[in-house]
Amino acid sequence: MTIRAAVAGVGHYLPDRVVPNSEFEKSLDTTDEWIRSRSGIERRHFAAEGQTTSDMATRAARAALDDAGMTPGDLDAIIVATSTADLTFPSAATMVQAQLDMNHGFAFDVQAVCAGFIYALCNANALILSGQAKRVLVIGAETFSRIMDWTDRSTCVLFGDGAGALILEAVEGEGTAEDRGILAADLNSDGSFRDILYVDGGVSTQTTGYLRMEGKEVFRHAVEKLASTATTALGKIGLTGDQVDWIVPHQANIRIIQGTAKKLGLSMDKVVVTVQDHGNTSAASIPLALSVGKQRGQIKPGDLIITEAIGGGLAWGAVVLRW
Ligand code: ACO
Repeated sequence: MTIRAAVAGVGHYLPDRVVPNSEFEKSLDTTDEWIRSRSGIERRHFAAEGQTTSDMATRAARAALDDAGMTPGDLDAIIVATSTADLTFPSAATMVQAQLDMNHGFAFDVQAVCAGFIYALCNANALILSGQAKRVLVIGAETFSRIMDWTDRSTCVLFGDGAGALILEAVEGEGTAEDRGILAADLNSDGSFRDILYVDGGVSTQTTGYLRMEGKEVFRHAVEKLASTATTALGKIGLTGDQVDWIVPHQANIRIIQGTAKKLGLSMDKVVVTVQDHGNTSAASIPLALSVGKQRGQIKPGDLIITEAIGGGLAWGAVVLRW
């Protein structure tokens, strides 16, 4: 008998305000056509004034709890993947815990930028496999609109706000690739690439800063590293790309998504794509795509899913799971 961390529920929240590409044409030297053709993005959601990451995370959490038929009393832990927490401390996760009126268990944040949800899933998996928790709420939530330089057309048109949540619970498996739950994972980072994607401010410099990105360089690393981490994660459980039902990639750019699918030998009809509607929501993009993919009827019980992401650090990784 093997313990696996299996998906018990999924949910998401997107703020009401939808911003189409055409809105940027009013203030920047850009066009809807350029944004669509270079990134695949058509629109994104932006949080309302005063709306915080933990507010959105809590709404996504409630949707996941409803989907699982659980209450906060059923949870042992909360992990929030975010780079845009409400405050320097306490963590966004403890803020969600308070908003859910949950006074037991433990909660903490994970910061690995766009790869944050992959890192959070691995943390939750480790807590479950080690017996420290039976049910973990894993959330990705971001307000990247707050760290955009609105005069920089090469970055500010690419990002959006939102939150997605997954509940993982301990189940018994056979120890094979047929089990439900997380089957394998692969995590990587290389800080020598920190200068190609970063925020030029932070607490110890007493600034907030804006996102800065050498898009072409990040793009170059993305396809190669995402295909390689996905292949490594699948190999750990003796699987190959052709056995996958769905790729649920980090939603940064449709051309990265297409390039990675091609390298894995998978056609685009096996890829859950939401980038056109959400833009890049960093750590929220994968749980948002999982939730939307389930809502659309794409992801079904028993499906083999590979999910992968790369972001600032650089940090990247992949998780193989059976839904
Ligand atoms: N509108 C019009 N023109 C623009 C815009 C815009 N919004 N932005 C840039 N351009 C111009 C550039 O100035 C450049 O002009 P020039 O040739 O006169 O200098 C031209 O378009 C081409 O720019 P490139 O950067 O070469 O365009 P590219 O095809 O590489 O696409 C993009 C840019 C979309 C940013 C792409 O490189 C990309 O997606 N990179 C990866 C981003 C990513 O994956 N991030 C994931 C991690 S995010 C995280 O961790 C937070």
